[in-house]
Amino acid sequence: MAVTRGEFQSRVGFILAAAGSAVGLGNIWGFPTQAASNGGAAFLITYLILAFVLAYPALMAELLIGRHTHRNMVQALESLPDARPLKLAGKLTGLAGLLTASLILSFYAIVAGWMLGFSASYPLGAAGLMEASEWLVAFTPSRNLFLMLGFMGLTMAVVLGGVENGIERWSRRLMPLLIATLIALAAYVLTLDGALIGLQAYLLPDLGKVLSGDLLLDALGSAFFSLSLGVGTMLIYGSYLSDQENVPRVGAQVALVDVGIAVLAGFLILPAMYVADARGVAIFSESGGLLSEDTLIFSVLPALFETMNTTGVWLATAFFLLMSIAALTSSISMLEVPVAYLIEQFELSRRRATLLAGVGIALFSALVVLNFDALFGLVITISTRYSQPILGIAVCVFAGWIWHRDALLRELNKNDTNAVNGLFWRIWPFYVKYFCPAIIGIIVIQSIL
Ligand code: TRP
Repeated sequence: MAVTRGEFQSRVGFILAAAGSAVGLGNIWGFPTQAASNGGAAFLITYLILAFVLAYPALMAELLIGRHTHRNMVQALESLPDARPLKLAGKLTGLAGLLTASLILSFYAIVAGWMLGFSASYPLGAAGLMEASEWLVAFTPSRNLFLMLGFMGLTMAVVLGGVENGIERWSRRLMPLLIATLIALAAYVLTLDGALIGLQAYLLPDLGKVLSGDLLLDALGSAFFSLSLGVGTMLIYGSYLSDQENVPRVGAQVALVDVGIAVLAGFLILPAMYVADARGVAIFSESGGLLSEDTLIFSVLPALFETMNTTGVWLATAFFLLMSIAALTSSISMLEVPVAYLIEQFELSRRRATLLAGVGIALFSALVVLNFDALFGLVITISTRYSQPILGIAVCVFAGWIWHRDALLRELNKNDTNAVNGLFWRIWPFYVKYFCPAIIGIIVIQSIL
C-alpha cells in the first residue's frame, strides 16, 4: 500500500463522525413536519421500524465492505469479486457513487450556504448593519454564489486536515454542540404559548394515516437519505474504522443517534410552528398540510423570530448555526468520497486531492447557482431520487451476492469470535441478499411511475 491511511482514533470519534454525516438538513427540516402531517407518533414508530429493518442493514453493508477492504468505494467494490466482468461492474458502481456524492454536495452546499447567510444576518441586523443583513437573506445569484463558496471553503478546510485531525476532530467538537443547541432551543420553545398543541400534533398517534402505502415509501426514502446511504460516504468512514471494533454494534449506535436527533428535532420544530400559529403566522398550506422544508425554514421560522424582538435574534442565530453545523458534518463526509479516491488511486497528496475535488465541485455548484431554475431541482432529483437508491441496491447486491460468505464471516470474526452464533449472522446475510434489494427496487419503480 503506497499511501498510509487514516484511522479513527476512538469509537466515540467514529460514531460522532458517522452520525454527523447522517444528521443533516434532512433530519431537521424534513422529518418533523412529515411526522406531524402523517399521523404523529404512529408515523414515528413506522419510521423507527423502517430505519432498523431496512436502512440499518444497508448501512451495515457499506460499513462492513469499507472496514473489510480498507479502501475507497471504487477500489473496494472492484476488489470484492474474482471474475473480471464483475470487477469492472464494481469499479463502475464505485465511480457512479463518487459522482453521485459530488452531485449531492453541489446542491447541498448551496442550501447550507443559505443557512450560513441567515445565521450571520440576524446579529448583523441587530448591530445596525442593515444592508449586509438584508443582502445575506435576499435570494440573488451573487449572494448564493458567495455563501456557497464560503461553505465549500469550510468543508475543504476540514477535509484537508485528514481523518483524525479534520473529520474526527471537528465531528467531536461540533456534534455535542449541535445536540446541546437543539435541546436548549427545544426546552425554551416548549415554554411558549401554543407549544403544547404542536407537541400533540407530533405525538398523538393517528393510526388511520399510517398504513397508507405511499407513506411507507416516503418514510423509507427519507430514512435512506437520512443515513447517507448508497454513495460511499458510510463505506469510506467504515474503511477508517479499526479492526478492533464490533461493526454491527457501532453501526446500530450510529443509526440510533441519527434517528434520535430526528426525533429530538420534532420537539423543537413542531412546537415552534404552533407557537408561530398562536402569533398569527400562517403554518398551513392551501391543501391543509403543514408547511414544510424550505418554506418552513426560510419563511415560517423567520416570521416567528420576528415576533420575538431581541430574544428572536438570539434564537434565530442559534437555530441557523445549528443548521449550518448539521450541514457541515454531512458535507465533509460527501467530499471525503472523491478525495479518498484521488489519494488512493492516483497517489495525490491530501492537499492536492482536496483542492481538486473541492474546486471541481464548487465550479459545478456555481453553474447550478447561475442556472438555478433549470438545474437545482434537476440535480436533486437525479442524485437523490434515482441514483442514490439504485446505487443502494447495487451495494446490497455486492454485499449479499458477490462477497463470499466465509470472507464476510472472517470479517465479523475479527472482533467477535462467536459471530457465527450471533443474531446478526443469522439474519443479516439473508436480509441484505433478498429483502433490501427487493424493497428498495419497489421504491425506485414506484417513484419512476
Ligand atoms: N444524511 C444527510 C442529511 O440527512 C445528508 C447526506 C450526507 C447524504 N451524506 C450523504 C445524503 C450521502 C445522501 C448521500 O442531510
